Amino acid sequence: MAILVTGGAGYIGSHTCVELLNEGYEIIVLDNLSNSNDEALRRVKEITGKQFKAYNIDLLDKEHVTNVFKENKIDSVIHFAGLKAVGESVSDPLRYYKNNVTGTITLCEVMQQFEVKKLVFSSSATVYGASGNNIPITEEARIGATNPYGRTKHMIEEILQDVYRSDNEWSIALLRYFNPIGAHKTGRIGEDPSGIPNNLMPYIAQVAVGKRQELQVFGNDYPTRDGTGVRDYIHVDDLAAGHIKALKKIQITNGVDAFNLGTGKGYSVLEMVNAFERATNQKVPYRMEERRPGDAAICYANPSKARKLLGWQPTRDIDVMCEDTWRWQYNNPNGYEIVKETNKASKSPVQQHAADFLMPK
Ligand code: NAD
Ligand code: WQD
Repeated sequence: MAILVTGGAGYIGSHTCVELLNEGYEIIVLDNLSNSNDEALRRVKEITGKQFKAYNIDLLDKEHVTNVFKENKIDSVIHFAGLKAVGESVSDPLRYYKNNVTGTITLCEVMQQFEVKKLVFSSSATVYGASGNNIPITEEARIGATNPYGRTKHMIEEILQDVYRSDNEWSIALLRYFNPIGAHKTGRIGEDPSGIPNNLMPYIAQVAVGKRQELQVFGNDYPTRDGTGVRDYIHVDDLAAGHIKALKKIQITNGVDAFNLGTGKGYSVLEMVNAFERATNQKVPYRMEERRPGDAAICYANPSKARKLLGWQPTRDIDVMCEDTWRWQYNNPNGYEIVKETNKASKSPVQQHAADFLMPK
């Protein structure tokens, strides 16, 4: 029996694939590569020394998703596939609702058809909105996403609650990630944003490697220790480990439950810059800018529910998060881009791998 990993070629998905393979799971990846590169999957195989099937399929394509379930014995699904850029979701909301919400509905329809009722879903702390909640944030906090991306996550959570209400055999974990950063310790896989990074850590890393001139710090007049925004940064490998714990939990209990995956510690933007400089010995020039609209002053998790019910606890501190980010960035200054270029040339080993990526039948 296999675990289907949608969005498995992406940032968090690829790290979770490594963790799953290392734990002995059989996995099948489904990804349309809209925001990723199949080189990430080649490196997952390289890191783990294990093979797995990967399908280049869009979740909206029900016929091909159905074929994946026909061709394989799938036991549970970890569902990462989705679009995630907040700004883009404001300018193109329909694309976000269609991809994220309709994609999830299609997936669940096919799961239902094949009697696969165990699902781990990538939700986000963004469902809590930017203000009005007590800090640290528990799972009982008021839900109030402030942008279309966040609302897709909230809607999907509601849909999954209804799916469970209609059929109590479903077992669903809603994992609300805080701010995932870092990379696998080998430096072979990591976050590869396309274009200008939206998020703090990839931006800092690109400044340090010389791809960008300076960091813009969005706001220094927040009611925080140094005036800059505070967030809960979590190592992507700790996050990946959280998925394994959730997967184990949904094997033994039915229901639908939400879990915060964060460390419970908040760091300001300037503290992150300092931590990165200290851990990597690189300078990160920055300048102060206006606040970014929609940003919260402070957001960090109360992760005690995940600790109690999943037995999950993050183990990597901020120094490790920075060191691992830097190892990835330094060794891959253009992310997987070089490989994208190589892919275009004929008869490269990478192209050979691209042929391994299964196309829909
Ligand atoms: P990512 O973009 O690196 O990975 C998402 C993957 O899904 C990509 O490989 C993309 O090609 C694939 N995909 C998107 N739409 C698809 C579709 N219709 N069919 C098939 N594949 C599709 O993003 P990530 O950072 O790894 O995030 C994974 C999940 O976690 C997303 O659902 C995201 O919303 C959620 N999340 C991310 C963060 C974060 O800060 N990175 C925080 C909270 C939640
Ligand atoms: C962190 C802090 C910024 C960039 C976002 C999404 C959220 C979730 C995680 C998916 C804030 C500041 C940032 C920069 C800066 N994703 N900053 N200069 O906003 O907490 O969350 O990613 O679910 O939905 O909204 O993360 O990394 O963008 O920002 O000063 O160039 O860094 O203002 O205080 P955020 P972030």
